[in-house]
Amino acid sequence: MLRGLFRTKNLDDILAAAGGPQFSLKRTLGAFNVTLLGIGAIIGAGIFATVGTAAAGDPARPGAGPSLMLSFVITAVVCGFTALCYAEMASMVPISGSAYTYSYSTLGELVAWIIGWDLIIEYAVGNIAVAISWANYFRTLMGNLGIDIPSWLATDYRTAMKLADANPAKFAADFGGAPHLFGYPIIFNLLAFGIVALITVVLVWGIKESAEFNAGMVVIKIIVLLFFIGISLYYVSPAKMTHNWVPFQPNGWRGTFTGAALVFFAYIGFDAVSTVAEECKNPARDLPIGIIASLVVCTILYVIVGAVFAGLIPYPELVTKLTTEQAEPLTMALDHVAPPGTTWPSTIVAFGSVIAHTAVLLVFQLGQPRIFFSMARDGLLPSTFASVHPRFKTPHVTTILTGVFVGVFAAFASIDEVIDLTNIGTLFAFILVCVGIPVLRMKDPGRARPFRVPLGPWLLPLLGVVSCFFLIFYLPPASWWRFVGWLMLGFAIYVSYGYTRSSIGQKLGRPTRTPAMLKLAGLGFLAVAVGLFIIPHDLGPRAIIDSALTAGADRHDRAVYGLLMIFVGLVVGVAGTVLGSKGGPGESVER
Ligand code: ALA
Repeated sequence: MLRGLFRTKNLDDILAAAGGPQFSLKRTLGAFNVTLLGIGAIIGAGIFATVGTAAAGDPARPGAGPSLMLSFVITAVVCGFTALCYAEMASMVPISGSAYTYSYSTLGELVAWIIGWDLIIEYAVGNIAVAISWANYFRTLMGNLGIDIPSWLATDYRTAMKLADANPAKFAADFGGAPHLFGYPIIFNLLAFGIVALITVVLVWGIKESAEFNAGMVVIKIIVLLFFIGISLYYVSPAKMTHNWVPFQPNGWRGTFTGAALVFFAYIGFDAVSTVAEECKNPARDLPIGIIASLVVCTILYVIVGAVFAGLIPYPELVTKLTTEQAEPLTMALDHVAPPGTTWPSTIVAFGSVIAHTAVLLVFQLGQPRIFFSMARDGLLPSTFASVHPRFKTPHVTTILTGVFVGVFAAFASIDEVIDLTNIGTLFAFILVCVGIPVLRMKDPGRARPFRVPLGPWLLPLLGVVSCFFLIFYLPPASWWRFVGWLMLGFAIYVSYGYTRSSIGQKLGRPTRTPAMLKLAGLGFLAVAVGLFIIPHDLGPRAIIDSALTAGADRHDRAVYGLLMIFVGLVVGVAGTVLGSKGGPGESVER
């Protein structure tokens, strides 16, 4: 089989490689900046957009109802376990690259590649969702101010087509003005693309400027969430709110847990600060403070906002409104309780939401290139990904690449699917970080750990692993398939590129050019990924097989072709891997 797949990187080597002058970044950030970056990453689309679906549910999941506040607490506990693990890792390995770097030093190259690839889901795919949500709120804000942005420039094609099916009259009213090409309406999210392009320019310009920009936006968004709480309490008395909290769990615990899995998106980001480790003045102290402080601040705000939101509208009315109005939840709830004709409170919240989204976009667009940067430094991606701009000292190549990827997909993707995929990818990354804590404590017990997970290396990290799996269980099955498909795509790239190019691989005496059989294996895994994207995603394993075996069944063709590709791809992939790794030199160089 492939050689050295689980060979770990020595932490001293990692620290030394990061210190090389050609790859060094400017050290300008302190603990306060790091906390602000954390809050900047955390408060965004999650609290402003996903709370609606989390509370009211949709055809694929039951709503939490007023127990949304409990969903926020549950998810905060899950994130808390992982935050402690991140803090220990970040203080011990203060290198950009986050979970990727940690897993390279604990679980080995293959797992590191998997997690690096997986983190693209958290950062880049997550940002696709945030950019789409940004566009929704920006359009609402402009509408409140009397400027109408055409729907066909602020919506993706598939979402528009869903509306065409569900409500043809509304579709005609909203999209009737779209220009046509070959008889098809031109519909894409230019707004989402535009904001990503703007953020990309800011980030290539420089980290110091970006951190200050972020600090300003964080202050504004905290004030706006406090404003939402205050004005809601002004319009609706606490007694009325508690009345609206009944029934507390309209769909039982299942609704509460499903809500928790969805609002997990609102918490993503506290880990993103660890990607700026190499730009911190004192990472061993600044990172643990930044990670934990930002999580605590956001949890308090979320639970209160969740409670107030659920107190504004009785649950049955909320369900009806969200399914028929396509409105943004917080502004819709405020408009519902404000006196008729009073829109300024929702305008202020829409404005704050736009700011919040912008800050999230900024931090995630900042994080993704730094992960690419670390992977390229290890040889798993082309070395041009690790180049630093001579004047701005930023990883400009990867920043621009990320901008193009996120911007283009944001113009065409649908937000719900992107959020579910982001959640599962991030939970998986969290699991690997939690596993890394006990592993590294055993392998490298003597290393300085400025911050340690309390109560020993087992209890809290294991609770972290179990609780992340728990949330994954409550995500829609469609996201499981897509996630495995994504991992297969990553595996295809690893066997056909990273395996031979990696720095560790070179030391182990792997061939310098990818053998033909490994290229074939790469094609096989690619076929598996395509198969996983083709099969009907909303069906479980048994239903997919039934559909493939029964002519005329629901989506029979997709099930047949998808399963066929998965099967053939797996055979080719495994056979190519076995044959391609035979006969080469062994692990000739030991660390
Ligand atoms: N936590 C981030 C948000 O809610 C991803 O937008």
